[in-house]
Amino acid sequence: MRVLVVGGGGREHALCWGIARSATVYCAPGNPGTAEIGTNIPAKPTDHAAILDAVQEHGIDLTVIGPEAPLAAGLVDDLTEAGHRAFGPTAAAARIEASKAYAKEVMQAADVPTAGSRTFASESAALDYIAGHPEPLVVKASGLAAGKGAIVCQTRDEARTAAREMFGGKFGDAGKLVVVEEFLTGEELSVLALTDGEQVLLLPASQDHKRIGEGDTGPNTGGMGAYTPVSTATEALLQRVEREILLPVLAQMADAGTPYRGVLYAGLMVGEDGSPAALEFNCRFGDPETQVVLPAADVDVTDHMWRISAGERWEPGESVCPAQRAAVTTVLSAKGYPGTPVKGDEIHLPGEPPQHTLLFHAGTVADDTGTLRTAGGRILCATGLGRDVPEAAALSRRLAEQITFEGRYYRRDIAWREVARAGAP
Ligand code: AMP
Ligand code: GLY
Repeated sequence: MRVLVVGGGGREHALCWGIARSATVYCAPGNPGTAEIGTNIPAKPTDHAAILDAVQEHGIDLTVIGPEAPLAAGLVDDLTEAGHRAFGPTAAAARIEASKAYAKEVMQAADVPTAGSRTFASESAALDYIAGHPEPLVVKASGLAAGKGAIVCQTRDEARTAAREMFGGKFGDAGKLVVVEEFLTGEELSVLALTDGEQVLLLPASQDHKRIGEGDTGPNTGGMGAYTPVSTATEALLQRVEREILLPVLAQMADAGTPYRGVLYAGLMVGEDGSPAALEFNCRFGDPETQVVLPAADVDVTDHMWRISAGERWEPGESVCPAQRAAVTTVLSAKGYPGTPVKGDEIHLPGEPPQHTLLFHAGTVADDTGTLRTAGGRILCATGLGRDVPEAAALSRRLAEQITFEGRYYRRDIAWREVARAGAP
């Protein structure tokens, strides 16, 4: 089977790695890491005609879309209409991520536990609402904002500023609708579920680290690291997530005529009483969660994606897929990230990477002479595998340490919550 992965970051390298175990992989546009395990095709994910041409030219059997933008823009619809198999939601179903206002409507209609919220199309109405609600508050641009559109505001003043900025165009059209919601406390958890729209297969639950600084401090990023398994994500909790959140959302979407097929990513808050609530949904695999979830699970992801994309009867077996090992990934980022990153610096990789590690490329390029250089904010993801999270974390850090480039930055505390729970030093 020939599988094309659309995208070129760390998530797509990890997808290619997982798929290459049972299929021949292509990646558009890919990166120097995906070039080592498959064939890169120079087509932009947003250029649907170029992707369709590549599918024809290379005899691709299945296209898997990594990022949210082409999903929201209807790449799956275009491929399907042209008679090709694609894994991912239609544009209508991808609204679960592309419109937080829509996601809230679905959750409310399906009676799914989530933060109380209101959606506003006018600044004055949002400001009135904020004035009458207790602090802290969370203000969100409804549309796609590269993970930067949710602002946790400790005070009503901050919330007013955030709402004014959003209506003022800070996030472009993504801020035309603004969601103001109640602040939830607890511990966050990411659950990625493969789904045919009715049944689900939950991949091992993970936790990512969104803040740039150690101890989860400083500005938000696309994600500085992730780990799995999470000991608090017990079988009982995951069954509740399935029963109280995932299945009702899928049923609601199917009833509304926009069935969801693909991978549904639930961003959850687990309260002190152990109850899960949905913060958001993404219509794709997480980045960097994929860099730990696929290596931790012995799952033939190609086979599941193939069956789901066909709309045939899919039999996932168990609804929760266990982690067979622990995995931790540390993201190495460029100087300046999450602001404007410095690009073009030479990257030195270890000749002999430590055993039980995997290196996923994200923002790298090979220049004309074949030298590897930095080309983005998040450069590489160093994944360590182990019997437990502390062991995997130590290996991930050891690999990260051995990679050098000017301005290299990484957090040395990825998975700290789990390491503390395990009582390790
Ligand atoms: P979102 O894009 O909606 O997932 O929000 C990004 C981040 O903002 C989440 O990962 C949380 O850390 C935080 N967040 C979002 N909504 C809430 C909420 N209602 N209560 C507390 N934190 C939130
Ligand atoms: N790691 C967060 C995301 O993929 O959205």
